[in-house]
Amino acid sequence: MTFTLTRYTAPSELTHGGGIIEVAKATGIPPKHWIDLSTGINPNGWPVPALPASTWQRLPESNDGLEQAIQQYYSPDIKSRLTNFIITAGSQSAIQLLPQVFSKGTVWVPEEGYSEHPYWWDFFQHKVFLYSPNDLEQLLNQEKGTPLPFDTLLIINPNNPTTQTYKKIFLEKLLNIIKAEGKRLIIDEAFLDTQSEHSLLSHSNNKHVVILRSLGKFFGLAGIRCGVLFSHASLLNTVQQHLGPWQVATPSRWVATQALNDTKWQEEAKVTLKNTSCRLEKILQQYLSSNDITSLNRSDYFCSILFSNIEIQQTIYHQLQTHAILVRLFHNSPRLRIGLPKNEREWEKLTLALDKIQTIKITPKTKHI
Ligand SMILES: Cc1ncc(COP(=O)(O)O)c(C=O)c1O
Repeated sequence: MTFTLTRYTAPSELTHGGGIIEVAKATGIPPKHWIDLSTGINPNGWPVPALPASTWQRLPESNDGLEQAIQQYYSPDIKSRLTNFIITAGSQSAIQLLPQVFSKGTVWVPEEGYSEHPYWWDFFQHKVFLYSPNDLEQLLNQEKGTPLPFDTLLIINPNNPTTQTYKKIFLEKLLNIIKAEGKRLIIDEAFLDTQSEHSLLSHSNNKHVVILRSLGKFFGLAGIRCGVLFSHASLLNTVQQHLGPWQVATPSRWVATQALNDTKWQEEAKVTLKNTSCRLEKILQQYLSSNDITSLNRSDYFCSILFSNIEIQQTIYHQLQTHAILVRLFHNSPRLRIGLPKNEREWEKLTLALDKIQTIKITPKTKHI
């Protein structure tokens, strides 16, 4: 069995989406002129109303309604209400904590994915290897009883930025092997809300499983810093000790509770996200030359384009910048991630900018209509 893994080396700097203030400074275009398509979160998030004054005054308290809302929203069905979770300051806080609570070992992380994962495992001196989707297929084809080459397998489902999505049945097969070998499966489900049929939450009580969820993406509430870690009770105790009290501020808890309970908004948001991302995919296919593109993939939150080379990626990134449109540039591959425009004004601006790019002719182009 041959795996095509490479050892992770931490970059000198981790980059993220967002950062309009910095880009405005660098380009001289004031922040108010920018449209930010760099983050990959729902641009029309849950509409936050004025908050009760008491939320600003009171210390965070458990069982204020948030725990109940989490049980209702995340439980696979009414009969199996999940109570095995801890509320964290975004999934980011769990991402930084997990490498500290497990003894040092070998960790597999996706070769492309949210860069904070490998960074923190490496920072806390685990041996980090980067796998491809093909490596996971190979794991399943290994002869029964073959020792697993890791202590922890980390999966981002669906992956940001590649959009790779693993089906529940595939993950369950992996979990069976991992359980048999006494290893650990961590699944980052930050972007899974619109495809919950692929969630492994129904297995989250298993002591070989940890699942991370976020209120930042589907609910578009990245600013409230609220996430949920699901796992077996023994790990929850350790995590709780590390985190201490008051992880999430009272105003954030209040907003999270209302958003999780708002099933009408959730149903509408699922449809809107799908339609909006399909519209984006179509426009990109129309305006970008297929000669320049290796792959164009859609998630419900963004489109992810792998260009044929770095020059094309950079040119398109900078051309969009001249129109005050910020998209996500990656440094480890010739990829751009383009988030969803928020309203018709932003669609118009994006379409105009893409049209201009086309006239620049980076390479000979054919317009696909
Ligand atoms: C895949 C993935 N997981 C987790 C996070 C962290 O999100 P948050 O801390 O807002 O929950 C991000 C942020 O971009 C992400 O892309």
